[in-house]
Amino acid sequence: MATERTLVLVKPDGVRHRQIGEVLRRIEAKGYDIVALQQLVPTAELLEKHYEEHVGKPFYGSLVEFMMSGPVVAAVAEGEQVIAAFRSLAGATDPIKAAPGSIRGDLARDWGTKVQQNVVHGSDSPESAEREIGLWFPAL
Ligand code: TYD
Ligand code: MG
Repeated sequence: MATERTLVLVKPDGVRHRQIGEVLRRIEAKGYDIVALQQLVPTAELLEKHYEEHVGKPFYGSLVEFMMSGPVVAAVAEGEQVIAAFRSLAGATDPIKAAPGSIRGDLARDWGTKVQQNVVHGSDSPESAEREIGLWFPAL
């Protein structure tokens, strides 16, 4: 079994709707530790590195603009297979398709036509997690 770390972001929609506590509660309730936590408005430079796989895609500009629209809470969660477990807690990318019981399925409020307003980000692999934690928490 592998103890892992993953990067979690509560996106600007989640912060705006006062869902920081609820997201962190679900992570802790599942048995994971929050080992780092900060709130910030990310820069375009940070987001370009964070979303490097999406640079140039049709939704990229709108995604970055949204991510800079207000504060984001960045957290590092730690525990057994936390990378996959948090992706499961978060639910499908599109909040309309995200299952009830998931963070996105339960908490997304601003979906309309915007998939990007889906409350949380979670790293998708050990390599992404290490890279993303280094970007958001250079001291770790
Ligand atoms: P992605 O990494 O594919 O999703 P996830 O957050 O589930 O890992 O995409 C990053 C974010 O970009 C996603 O949370 C929402 C946004 N996005 C769009 O706005 N439109 C799209 O078509 C896709 C695929 C993603
Ligand atoms: Mg992703």
